[in-house]
Amino acid sequence: MSSDYALNPPPEGIEDRANAAAGRILMGGPVALVTTTWRGKSNVVPISWHMPLSSKPSIVGIAVAQERYSTEMLKHAQEFALNIPTRPLLHHVQYLGALSGEQVDKFEATQLETFAARTITSPLIVGCCAWIECQVVEAFPIGDHILFVGIVTAVRVDPASFDDRWLVGDADTRPLHFIAGNRYSTLNGVMEARLPQDYEAPERVLRDRLAEELELTREARERREEAVGELREEVRRGHAVDPAALDDLAKSGIEVSPDDLIDLSKGIVLGQ
Ligand SMILES: Cc1cc2nc3c(=O)[nH]c(=O)nc-3n(C[C@H](O)[C@H](O)[C@H](O)COP(=O)(O)O)c2cc1C
Repeated sequence: MSSDYALNPPPEGIEDRANAAAGRILMGGPVALVTTTWRGKSNVVPISWHMPLSSKPSIVGIAVAQERYSTEMLKHAQEFALNIPTRPLLHHVQYLGALSGEQVDKFEATQLETFAARTITSPLIVGCCAWIECQVVEAFPIGDHILFVGIVTAVRVDPASFDDRWLVGDADTRPLHFIAGNRYSTLNGVMEARLPQDYEAPERVLRDRLAEELELTREARERREEAVGELREEVRRGHAVDPAALDDLAKSGIEVSPDDLIDLSKGIVLGQ
């Protein structure tokens, strides 16, 4: 990276946005339906602000607004499950985000089918393609949200959607990604990135090497001109010129062009 980037103007056409846009810019992971159970009552809430936090041990985080009913439940339940819905659940997801568990039993309202988790009491939702069970180990208030940190206690997947990564197969097997408002998307294909091979030096490296070469050529030309100039001066003064010097010039890769031919007629060439 060039050290004078501070002097570079931003590319044309880019625009400022409010700082609050950061959240939406970073959104894009699969939406999760977070289920939790407390005092025999279960609730489900769509959450898109979630993140992996550690791989060994496996730990994830969910950011839930402080005022949510789910926040209260999570504080008490100390456990939750992330259920990853696919396209057929699109409208359910939106609807679940418009209801509060404080007023409505969302499972009754949506008639979502559920099944038992392995390690927690929260229900898991049928029709999802991956399920992550967690025990809450920390809860950090951050601004107007609470980051619930959960150690992963069990993971299950539908292999039509995920083997050891998202397969991005049939449209209905892909997870839903929340954009904003009532807009969602799905992944639309897989690309494989590759690193450049030795013979494919990236453009910038190539340019630097060419510049180096040019610099070397320039230095060599200057050295040659200097050496030839010195020899000429010797000859002009009628001094002896050692032919070994000419050999040395040749050996050092300095070519003596016809223009540089030295008239040695006035000098005494040693060794002859
Ligand atoms: C797709 C989607 C993603 C959402 N992501 C979050 C989130 O990450 N954090 C959050 O606090 N609320 C999020 N919400 C809003 C809550 O889901 C919504 O306020 C819900 O009704 C709260 O339910 P509750 O009152 O039962 O807790 C999201 C809503 C939708 C539709």
